[in-house]
Amino acid sequence: MCGIVGYLGSSQAAPVLLSSLRALEYRGYDSAGVAIIENGRLAVLKAAGKLANLESLLESKNPQATVGIGHTRWATHGVPNDQNAHPHMDCSGTLAIVHNGIIENYQALRQELMENGHTLSSDTDTEVVAHLIEDEFRTTGDLLAAIRGAVGRLKGAYALGVVSQQLPEKLYAVNHHYSLAVGLSDQASYLASDSVAVCQYTNRILRLEQSEIAEITASDVKLYSFDGQAVSRTPVMVDSNPFVIDKQGYKHFLLKEIHEQPLIMRQTLGKYLKHPEKPVDFSAANGSGHHCDDTSYGVSLTADDFKKIDRILIVACGTAYHAGLVGKYILEELCGIPVEVEIASEMRGRKLLVTGNTLTIAVSQSGETADTLAAITEAAARGSMTLGITNRPDSHLALVTPNLIVTECGIEVSVAATKTFVAQCACFYLLALHMADALKTVTPERSRDLKAKLLAVPALMEQILAREDTIRLKSLRHAEAHDMVFVGRGLNYPIALEGALKLKELSYIHASGYAAGELKHGPIAVLDHLVPVITVIVPGAVYEKTLSNAQEARARNAQMIAVAVDGDEQARKTFDTILSIPPVEEFFSPLLTVIPLQLLSYFIADYLGKDVDQPRNLAKSVTVE
Ligand code: AGP
Repeated sequence: MCGIVGYLGSSQAAPVLLSSLRALEYRGYDSAGVAIIENGRLAVLKAAGKLANLESLLESKNPQATVGIGHTRWATHGVPNDQNAHPHMDCSGTLAIVHNGIIENYQALRQELMENGHTLSSDTDTEVVAHLIEDEFRTTGDLLAAIRGAVGRLKGAYALGVVSQQLPEKLYAVNHHYSLAVGLSDQASYLASDSVAVCQYTNRILRLEQSEIAEITASDVKLYSFDGQAVSRTPVMVDSNPFVIDKQGYKHFLLKEIHEQPLIMRQTLGKYLKHPEKPVDFSAANGSGHHCDDTSYGVSLTADDFKKIDRILIVACGTAYHAGLVGKYILEELCGIPVEVEIASEMRGRKLLVTGNTLTIAVSQSGETADTLAAITEAAARGSMTLGITNRPDSHLALVTPNLIVTECGIEVSVAATKTFVAQCACFYLLALHMADALKTVTPERSRDLKAKLLAVPALMEQILAREDTIRLKSLRHAEAHDMVFVGRGLNYPIALEGALKLKELSYIHASGYAAGELKHGPIAVLDHLVPVITVIVPGAVYEKTLSNAQEARARNAQMIAVAVDGDEQARKTFDTILSIPPVEEFFSPLLTVIPLQLLSYFIADYLGKDVDQPRNLAKSVTVE
């Protein structure tokens, strides 16, 4: 996923572009660059590595310009270096573009352009677009027509920003299956992949929808469809509080977001469930403006719809997939409907066996993950009922499903998902209770009891966070490990998977998560005195079996760590280290057991000096398949 920004107005462009890119850096940070028009001439300044490198370059060059575009990159084609950094220019060096997405037919286009005498200097797919526009402009003499002609040759999903020294009073933007927003103020116009980047300047936002081109001046914006028809759309007024991306005293965004979890649980639960005696309310009326967007959303599925459902399919990636696995246990337990959870990318190319009686649920904090969007779009095309769970009501996911449950997390800046994970799980508890009440698969008394226990979870989370220092000291005992194994059963099997993913993506230590009962079927071969095994174990239906599996690991001299409840004497005798949580019903335990594992990964990664908020090779959302 990359970040696109643009500015056109009466102020200096460079500081605005840089500040906007800073708000989008979570989307990718391999390299960054800007293209500006200075004294009537196009200048491109770009640098590999973090945004700070571009900032230093701009400070040294001190460009004077009031129009420009910018980009922060997560590499898809071509290694992250200066040459492959965006923006990319045409042969004449008078036009530059920035790009998010993939041009699937770029190789053929590149070949054709080179045969027609173009010289391309990067390994990217992006560069071909600049040269295609240049070719079209030679024919049309009109930049809007040239852009239209060029995008007509492209295959794939993409968003583009275009600036040309031939037309310094205009910027162009193209959206094709991505997201782009134009911010409008009295003296200037702003372009950004994500509206949070422009909310610091204006609260008048106009979104490009699919297959649209925007012609932007400092005072207005005109929209056109790819076939040249003018499109009319009124800008929306969004939350006027400028979005502040601030660590608020924490060393990293990740630690801040781990500590925000009780708050966002209260916010997410409180949005849809006001009291244990009340029903869960997902109605669209309850959907409200969210940060930099005023999108209404909700769930319009009725009790009759729920009665039709004979199967639920959950599609997601990464941490969201683990939330889906938690959701499976919850929905099956409360609603008695079979649930399958699929890695979204594995749905590609398969015969999707969904019907009008299937409910397909897509889970995505960004709402922009290409694999997940493709899966739910395909399911809908085959007649499935659909529902999305996301942290971004202004995302693509909100456009592809009529039913949306939104987590109330605020922007999750750190690339590793934490608060959005627990919020996604909370949404599954809420959805299962909502459906169970409608289907009468739980008694009113049990529904009330479950709702009361769910609403009590944030206070239990706070108790764990209060133990942070102890968890840090215990975690650092294993900071030099080269391999780590996480195990759990039932509702805590997904937590074992999530714990392993957190450790990998934050500390780069190889880690694997297994169903505890699976250890003896092969993975136990990797265990010896050098390997820490972390067992997630809470009193409940699978406690004894999980303890037995842990003892099998102990018999192989593994370093024994557990996430267990306070006062668990059997655990105290079995494990060398216990990351303890307050007593909790097994059914709600995933919301708590994940927190010590988040902290363990954070403290080990920080101890090892890793880039905790922006781990190598990662991006906050992967918008390519
Ligand atoms: C989780 O820490 C990772 N950042 C990654 O696995 C992420 O969960 C995955 O890419 C899905 O992202 P989404 O929730 O935005 O769809």
